[in-house]
Amino acid sequence: MERRVIQVGLLGFGTVGRGVAEIVSRHQNELEHQVGGPISIKSALVKDLQKERGEWNERIQLTADPADVIEDPEIDIIIEVMGGIEETKLLLEKALSHKKHIVTANKDLMAEYGSSLLQQAAEHGCDVYYEASVAGGIPILRTITEGLAADRITKMMGIVNGTTNYILTKMSKEKLAYTDVLKEAQRLGFAESDPTADVEGLDAARKMAILATLGFSAPVQLADVAVKGISGISGVDLEFCEQLGYTMKLIGIAQRDEGRLEVSVEPTLLPSSHPLANVQNEYNAVFVHGEAVGETMFYGPGAGSLPTATAVVSDLVSITKNVKRKVNGFAQHLPLYPATLKTEEEMQSQFFIRLHVEDRTGTFARVTSLFANHDVSFEKLIQLPLENKMLAEVVIITHLTSRAVYKQLINELETMDVIERVASSYRVEGGNA
Ligand SMILES: NC(=O)c1ccc[n+]([C@@H]2O[C@H](COP(=O)([O-])OP(=O)(O)OC[C@H]3O[C@@H](n4cnc5c(N)ncnc54)[C@H](OP(=O)(O)O)[C@@H]3O)[C@@H](O)[C@H]2O)c1
Repeated sequence: MERRVIQVGLLGFGTVGRGVAEIVSRHQNELEHQVGGPISIKSALVKDLQKERGEWNERIQLTADPADVIEDPEIDIIIEVMGGIEETKLLLEKALSHKKHIVTANKDLMAEYGSSLLQQAAEHGCDVYYEASVAGGIPILRTITEGLAADRITKMMGIVNGTTNYILTKMSKEKLAYTDVLKEAQRLGFAESDPTADVEGLDAARKMAILATLGFSAPVQLADVAVKGISGISGVDLEFCEQLGYTMKLIGIAQRDEGRLEVSVEPTLLPSSHPLANVQNEYNAVFVHGEAVGETMFYGPGAGSLPTATAVVSDLVSITKNVKRKVNGFAQHLPLYPATLKTEEEMQSQFFIRLHVEDRTGTFARVTSLFANHDVSFEKLIQLPLENKMLAEVVIITHLTSRAVYKQLINELETMDVIERVASSYRVEGGNA
């Protein structure tokens, strides 16, 4: 292989960008050995040229003009680690038109415009790799597309957002309130100052759309993902979970049954013995079920400068190998199947339902007969008096039922005269039912 220097341009030089520069610098020998020549970071686009960046101010050409990077004829590969969607998409399209290969860590962009960018890349004979966009340091996209390429994946279930996992871990273990833990997470840098995308499940939904698209070879859009966040979870919910032998996690599920798909992100009760229930703090994990391989699980840091940069630089290595072998533009596969979604009647799971009911004779019989009318049986049930002696708390774990029946049940429970309110309800996964 020729030993010319592979020149790289960064779009963004923040947390991940610096990590990329550090890894390329620290691991130069190993990288050079793998790709048969040196890799050099030539320039980086930033917003604020006055910002203090230590030694990097001298080592990398910093610019505020995107054209200096994406139109530089010496640059082979662009690494996009600036974030953003619309403006960034235009920059990457321009980069592709200049025949630059792209690595991106941007799940917001890939969930929204991934298929269009991949199509354009193929037309220009370029590669687009985006390993870091899902679960940071865990090489899950490569695992799905290469490691498990021979299998037919039927289910992917994971914790793909570190912020919410950190919050739920602290709430469960230290019995702290949601708002207090969120403030602490913001102080420690685990949560953004505007945490909405994380806590309302949007960030995880984008990652699940990417995973489902690759895992099922079907163009799953963000709008196809049913999303519910963690902001409504109370300490009481978590106490009942524990009492019943479950742990609450924000779980992304992508499931395929006979070609029909279901993709969701929602707070979910897992049996406390389930491997995902033991993924703590800001860590991520993805559980993959393949028809042939059975169950596999991948665990690691979902974010952070060096873990994320490891995924980015691994993509850089893959593209560089392709450049040297002159085989770029073949990495992206167009989906084989349509994204045909299940109806709510076809989506089966168990549910946790917590009710405040009138504490008098006959109430319980009426609640149970409502469930019986819908042919929904109970796996577990707890009834406790509330401090207000007129009310009792009833917590039910159902056996498997459809989401359509569950929604109908909740509607009917909300209008029953003996029920003060449906305090909360969640999906339950991994049970025996
Ligand atoms: N941080 C993580 O752990 C992590 C994990 C997985 C994926 N990601 C993804 O990686 C990407 C980067 O994240 P990050 O945490 O590294 O972000 P960051 O620390 O905020 O860095 C962003 C960088 O991009 C530059 N930038 C932003 N907007 C720009 C614009 N309009 N024009 C020019 N430069 C601009 C900033 O310039 P200045 O330095 O001048 O401000 C900064 O250097 C995002 O897509 C994120 O979702 C991050």
